[in-house]
Amino acid sequence: MDSREFAKTIEKRVAEFCGSLDAKLPAYSYIPLTTDEMRVKVMQSRLFNEVRAGEIFGGWLKSTPELDVKKTLAEATHEEYVHATYLEEALRQKGAVPHDYKPLPARLTALKGSPTPWNASRRFPWRARALPII
Ligand SMILES: [Fe+2]
Repeated sequence: MDSREFAKTIEKRVAEFCGSLDAKLPAYSYIPLTTDEMRVKVMQSRLFNEVRAGEIFGGWLKSTPELDVKKTLAEATHEEYVHATYLEEALRQKGAVPHDYKPLPARLTALKGSPTPWNASRRFPWRARALPII
């Protein structure tokens, strides 16, 4: 099999997998989810996280002196809201209200204050993957 055939094989498998997601919601979690109601709740929490991540990245713009870093932060901020838009659309397609989500009190406590890029990966571990780009 040459590289083009291999790529087509992978592309077909990914398309089949993604097509199956329209009929059956993905797990989206390390927690075993057994119902679509649970899956929707996790998607809503992910949406909450996307919006908060955008607020955090955007909040660093003013205090960041380097223009190239500001540009990267602005792109990262925008990207979080693109992700939020995808989740909003997916939730609406499932008949859910996207922002009908109330985080646990401990979650809200973690969001208080003004995290810096240096402590955010500890306070917001779901963002840790994105931080090395800053
Ligand atoms: Fe995101």
